[in-house]
Amino acid sequence: ELTALGAQVTLAACDLSDRDSVAALLAEHPVDAVVHTAGVARLTPLDRLTAAELAETNAAKVTGADLLDDLLGDRPLDAFVLFSSIAGVWGSGDHGAYAAANAHLDALAHRRRAAGRPATSVAWGPWAGSGMAADGGVLDDLRRRGLTALQPEAAVDALFDALAGDDPAPVVAEVDWARFSRLFALTRHSPLLQEVAPATGTAGDGNARPDSPEPAQGPDTADELRRKLTALPAPDRGPALVDLVRTTAAEVLGHGAGARVESRRGFLELGFDSLTTLEFRDRITARTGIALPATAAFDHPTPAALAAHLETVLLADGGGGGAALLAEADRFAESLAALPADDEHRTALADRLRRIADRLQETAGLAPGTGDPATGDAPDEEFADASVDDMLALIENEFRNS
Ligand SMILES: NC(=O)c1ccc[n+]([C@@H]2O[C@H](COP(=O)([O-])OP(=O)(O)OC[C@H]3O[C@@H](n4cnc5c(N)ncnc54)[C@H](OP(=O)(O)O)[C@@H]3O)[C@@H](O)[C@H]2O)c1
Repeated sequence: ELTALGAQVTLAACDLSDRDSVAALLAEHPVDAVVHTAGVARLTPLDRLTAAELAETNAAKVTGADLLDDLLGDRPLDAFVLFSSIAGVWGSGDHGAYAAANAHLDALAHRRRAAGRPATSVAWGPWAGSGMAADGGVLDDLRRRGLTALQPEAAVDALFDALAGDDPAPVVAEVDWARFSRLFALTRHSPLLQEVAPATGTAGDGNARPDSPEPAQGPDTADELRRKLTALPAPDRGPALVDLVRTTAAEVLGHGAGARVESRRGFLELGFDSLTTLEFRDRITARTGIALPATAAFDHPTPAALAAHLETVLLADGGGGGAALLAEADRFAESLAALPADDEHRTALADRLRRIADRLQETAGLAPGTGDPATGDAPDEEFADASVDDMLALIENEFRNS
């Protein structure tokens, strides 16, 4: 194809991690531009990474880039392009060595630019077509996390834009920010994504969640489950809920039909990640009718602990009282946390919440804004004078810590 377009093409094999080989290649084929794409990707958690694997991951990508940079020296080049990855920009699970290798390329591009040499390190998101990410299963998983594979034609267009731009290390990726940042931040704090997502105007999409196989159910489901549970002898109710949780956890982990996980092993230890955590929450909510926060599997970290929580909400107060409302409040606080800082409804929301809090105080026999009758505590000074943002932050914190 290239020859038909008038280019002269030479394919020359070379181990890019070997200095003598790269020097010989450049001597035999003097170049005006470099596009460095060599690399290997291995998925290994950091605590199991061996020195040999780290060296293997660095060899082509890092050593190759450094050798090209060094051996080409001051030779005038039209372009010096490095193929990097989003793993090096915001991190990806199990990509420790690969992420570091790509971050090295981005740093090299900055260093070359600072020295007045051309360089662009493009941090790519996953590509469709062919390549190291183009496995159907991998791409499906990434899509459910909010990363859509780049189509080759669009990726090549973006590459030309990147080369024409000023940024030495641009990111080219197709990201559903609402979904991606929500899942990413579930298991780790990410100031970077917090800044990016509101800029796209999508951070407030509290409904963005991975594909849920079952529609969320409401009070009817909870009533139905409550009826079934109360029809059981009291000692059997807890185990029935533990079974429901164990089976649901086994499903989202991809175990076969009818499988159950151990009731006292932690969800994280069982292999939950941010995606499974959200899917699990959605399925439990669909099956119990109980609104749970996205962090349910962290707040109640084993099947036994979560089942005990569900039992409290469903049975302790007939299901319609304070416990169920608290669960609703958790969910509300979660949506609140995703509200963009400049959302026009913040003031109205804070007013509404103040009025609800006052009404609660009044029905507890207290004047609005006074202390807690159970403890005799004085009212919170900062609460009385809180700004809208303070007020919303206080409420988010309150529910997060409850
Ligand atoms: N595919 C994606 O979705 C994606 C996303 C982000 C970034 N990237 C980056 O884009 C680049 C190309 O990715 P790809 O998907 O095309 O990868 P790929 O299909 O796995 O190709 C990588 C190439 O690197 C070559 N290579 C490995 N070690 C080498 C060495 N020591 N010397 C010379 N060549 C060596 C391999 O040659 P052999 O076949 O001979 O081993 C292979 O042809 C990589 O740097 C990757 O990190 C890709």
